[in-house]
Amino acid sequence: MSTATSHTNTIRWEQDDTGLVTLVLDDPNQSANTMNADFIQSLTAVADRLEAERDGVRGVVFASAKKTFFAGGDLHDLIRIDREHAREAFDTGLAVKRALRRIETLGVPVVAAINGAALGGGYEIALACHHRVALDAPGAKIGLPEVTLGLLPAGGGVTRTVRLMGIADALLKVLLQGTQYRPRRALENGLVHEVVGTEEELRAAARAFVDAHPESRQPWDEPGYRIPGGTPANPRFAANLPAFPANLQKQLNGAPFPAPRAIMAAAVEGSQVDFETAQVVEARYFVDLAVGQTAKNMIQAFFFDLQAVNAGRSRPDGIAERRVSKVAVLGAGMMGAGIAYACARAGIEVVLKDVSAEAAEKGKAYSAGLLDKQLAKGRTTEEKRDALLARITPAADPAELAGCDAVIEAVFEDPALKHKVFQEIQDTVAPDALLCSNTSTLPITLLAEGVDRPRDFIGLHFFSPVDRMPLVEIVRGERTGDEALARAFDLVRQISKTPIVVNDSRGFFTSRVIGHFINEGVAMVGEGIEPATVEQAAAQAGYPAKVLSLLDELTLTLPRKIRNETRAAVEAAGGSYPVHPAEAVIDRMVDEFGRTGRAGGAGFYDYEDGRRTRLWPGLREHFTKAGQDPPALRELQERMLFAEALDTVRLVEEGVLTSVADANIGSILGIGFPAWTGGVLQYINGYEGGLPGFAARARELAAAYGERFEPPALLLRKAEQGERFTDDA
Ligand code: NAI
Repeated sequence: MSTATSHTNTIRWEQDDTGLVTLVLDDPNQSANTMNADFIQSLTAVADRLEAERDGVRGVVFASAKKTFFAGGDLHDLIRIDREHAREAFDTGLAVKRALRRIETLGVPVVAAINGAALGGGYEIALACHHRVALDAPGAKIGLPEVTLGLLPAGGGVTRTVRLMGIADALLKVLLQGTQYRPRRALENGLVHEVVGTEEELRAAARAFVDAHPESRQPWDEPGYRIPGGTPANPRFAANLPAFPANLQKQLNGAPFPAPRAIMAAAVEGSQVDFETAQVVEARYFVDLAVGQTAKNMIQAFFFDLQAVNAGRSRPDGIAERRVSKVAVLGAGMMGAGIAYACARAGIEVVLKDVSAEAAEKGKAYSAGLLDKQLAKGRTTEEKRDALLARITPAADPAELAGCDAVIEAVFEDPALKHKVFQEIQDTVAPDALLCSNTSTLPITLLAEGVDRPRDFIGLHFFSPVDRMPLVEIVRGERTGDEALARAFDLVRQISKTPIVVNDSRGFFTSRVIGHFINEGVAMVGEGIEPATVEQAAAQAGYPAKVLSLLDELTLTLPRKIRNETRAAVEAAGGSYPVHPAEAVIDRMVDEFGRTGRAGGAGFYDYEDGRRTRLWPGLREHFTKAGQDPPALRELQERMLFAEALDTVRLVEEGVLTSVADANIGSILGIGFPAWTGGVLQYINGYEGGLPGFAARARELAAAYGERFEPPALLLRKAEQGERFTDDA
């Protein structure tokens, strides 16, 4: 922490001759303002001066000299808070709260002139103001996303949102999901009072408020104030609390994810005490979260790892950035249609090719459908919709692909067909066009044999549904060149997705690892465990999709096909491919009961018109062992988490994965590894007892359930040497 002498002033005091003071947030050492030690000292000094010069001050405006209004807490500091420094963190939090409270209760109007993003601490400063005006700037977002980092807003954010909008709205609209609102949506949801279009209007609106409200106060400082909607002390309160949406319920059920519960507790407890005590309650819950492992995992993943991944840690150096202007998408099925949309949205011209004009048109209609839904919700304009659709040209004739500088193939998963479609087009597209396949399982090296330029051939593995899934797994074949890798990386960034890079292998990283999750859940059914218990274990571990319902979506024949192909390939190479206990269950489901999954109308679940209705009662009859002691959920959850984590270590050993950050981000964003872990390798780092603790537990699981849980040599070596999984040299 800076000492008083070395402290940098990060708030500029500008006072005009009418007594209006503008506090310009402008940290000279950083591109964005953050809540670091310098800021806290500056804010305290500002509060002192305002109190001392109170009589000459007519009003206060918080403004920013940066592109963002204020970026929030400094995550480098936050991730370092441990039990030893808990008291210091608590006191620091209180210092910010006290200074803001002194300014808020000065008796003069205080306005936030929000010129850009105001997230976390930035919005908390604005909440301490009596009036919030936001500029509708491109990229401006407003809200309290702390929960997404496993934290709670501790600069008065819980205390003030509860008093501003009532407990239910504060929880549902702001605190529990960490929604980041565009300025107009922030206005609709009551987070700000006004939205303006220009910087000038922003200054004018702030001044106008000061002029019109010489004695402004916060609603909660007015005599007789009551929290909107009541508090738990009020008998009507429970009736007014809306039901929690399903996705929140899932978060709340996720036992290892403590932030939503802490936020709810801080909101409810804080609503029953006075403002100052509520701020202390908030600070206490914050410190509990901040010293815990979950917040550290989430800050590491969603801030440091994500930044490293997107900044190009896995992109080869020294190759100039290139942008794609016209892309050929081959195959207008589910994936091709989604990929065409994602590219067109990024401003790229798309030729969407299928076997017939009708099939290609149908693929384009998918984009129209998505855009119409957005239009109905006010999330796009007719103009933007039409412009995007105009960029997609459906085609059946390969000649229409002339001039395309990239190709993304998404035809059926059949190597011979994939070879054929590349042969058909390779002389028509630009002579150096980047050639990508969206295969989810086939080796890229094998597919590259079918093209004339294997150096330019690469895997670009999208996830379904493409418009919503943020990840793309780039797969480098044995003959893929550095230039192609860099271009693929740039293309993924150009369409605003997150690229991870892996080396070629069957199923790459994501498809192979998620297979272990599925197999483990299916094996449990085979052991006689209640299927509902298996599903509950996955949900409560924080997996976004339950294991049996996920396999129903993928169809039960898919893992069987992959398993058979992989086994044949491994055996052909002289290796052996162990039998997994899930195989017998899947074989029975398909061969004996004819249940192949949702598309087939029946799987682990029953379906009506394609909608899941209930777990198939036959599962209990044919598989479940009655009278068996119910297993501990934690045991089931650890089997799922360990199965994925151990195979990820094997992928590092095999050289398929070369970056820890890519593994962590890929596991969360691509295959739903629970976010509270910070990703699949961070789960191992953060396990009780670190790597040695994880290895010991893996041995126990191996003894109980089989060799697949034996810790790989790399894990044992790192455990012995006191290392962790990290990209830091
Ligand atoms: P799909 O069956 O929905 O679409 C395939 C499309 O390719 C069909 O429209 C078909 O008419 C078209 N096609 C067939 N032959 C063609 C040819 N000669 N020229 C042009 N188009 C042709 O399949 P889906 O699900 O879109 O999968 C496509 C690829 O993406 C596969 O390789 C699959 O493994 C991969 N993938 C699938 C994911 C998924 O979740 N479904 C996820 C990631 C990758």
